[in-house]
Amino acid sequence: MEATKLTFLLPERMRNQVDAWLETLEVLTEIKDPRVLASMGPSGVRGLVLHRGKQGVPTKTRAHHAAHFDWTYPSDNPEMRALYTRAKRRQWDSDTKLAWDTSVDPYDPEKRLLDEYFLDFGALEARGIKLDAKERARLVHSQTAWMLSQFLHGEQGALFAAAQVTEAVQFFDGKLYGATQVMDEARHVEVFHRYVEEKLGKLYQINDNLFVIIDALMTDARWDMKFLGMQIMVEGLALGAFGTLYKQTREPLLKELLRYVIQDEARHVHYGVLALRDHFKQLSDSERREREDWAFEVALLMRNRFLAYEVYEEWFEGRMSRRDWREFVTETPGMKQFRQTMFSRLVPNLREIGLVSQRLIPRYEKVGLLQYMNGLAADRLDGEGMIAELDRAA
Ligand SMILES: [Fe+2]
Ligand SMILES: [Fe+2]
Repeated sequence: MEATKLTFLLPERMRNQVDAWLETLEVLTEIKDPRVLASMGPSGVRGLVLHRGKQGVPTKTRAHHAAHFDWTYPSDNPEMRALYTRAKRRQWDSDTKLAWDTSVDPYDPEKRLLDEYFLDFGALEARGIKLDAKERARLVHSQTAWMLSQFLHGEQGALFAAAQVTEAVQFFDGKLYGATQVMDEARHVEVFHRYVEEKLGKLYQINDNLFVIIDALMTDARWDMKFLGMQIMVEGLALGAFGTLYKQTREPLLKELLRYVIQDEARHVHYGVLALRDHFKQLSDSERREREDWAFEVALLMRNRFLAYEVYEEWFEGRMSRRDWREFVTETPGMKQFRQTMFSRLVPNLREIGLVSQRLIPRYEKVGLLQYMNGLAADRLDGEGMIAELDRAA
């Protein structure tokens, strides 16, 4: 608190730098469980302090998992086998399924990318930033491009994580299924990249917090941590985010693209729930506690720290403080709604795999996440059901 007060004596650029350092410190000290800190800490330093995700090409991470071979090819999980069959049948070709010749005008109010209340321009004005109609439309375009760029970077993480998990899991039916997911993720990288590049013309760098999570699960040697990180946390949140955007956007190509992607992602999260539900039952108490804490900390990291500083740096650095921007993004209605939908998807899955124990309930309650506990988990929702529900809600 005192440190925060003292920073007001500094020039703004330095003040923003100190704000960023204090925030990093806060993220790292927020993690209470020492084992979680030990596994997340190095990724936190690489992402938040060294900004590894932003240092050009390539970013290298080292894998530590073991590939699990089985020369007897067992049929060991009928539900995973059924998912594999469904996934094979539902492959789609983005070249023929999506109307890439649609001309997208990010400034067309009839086909707007996001709801107009997504950003609260009144709240920006209260912070001394007055934008005319054209600038507002440009800012919404930036914000959309930022979100889709983060989806794209997340998809690249999902592509590599799915490949690692396919090697590492012990279920043979899971490996076959996993191969379809690798293909799905490649297609997602392809379509998001093409949309961002051809239709929005703007690609943002990876957000540091997203980098931290991807780095942590790529480097963790334990297959179930990769699973938990990617199939449940990142994919679960992404599914919520895709759903919100699907509901909001009036741009037909983006909507169609999301409709296809959501149906693939629903299978991915379903697989995550199947694989982890049984596995977590066999863990020792201390191993399970570590995973409960890890999931909770990562959920908070994603909720509190996904703050579009990349948009701030481009638009407002020098015009408002980083801290004001943080308050603005935290409070703005569109981002609030995003966070809500994201967690309404994630929390039921965490419950289903047994990671919201009695011990954790007060912590979920304290941060306002307990309200999502009774939702349907991914093994009860298929992609079509999810789309139908979103269409009804829209
Ligand atoms: Fe994906
Ligand atoms: Fe996925």
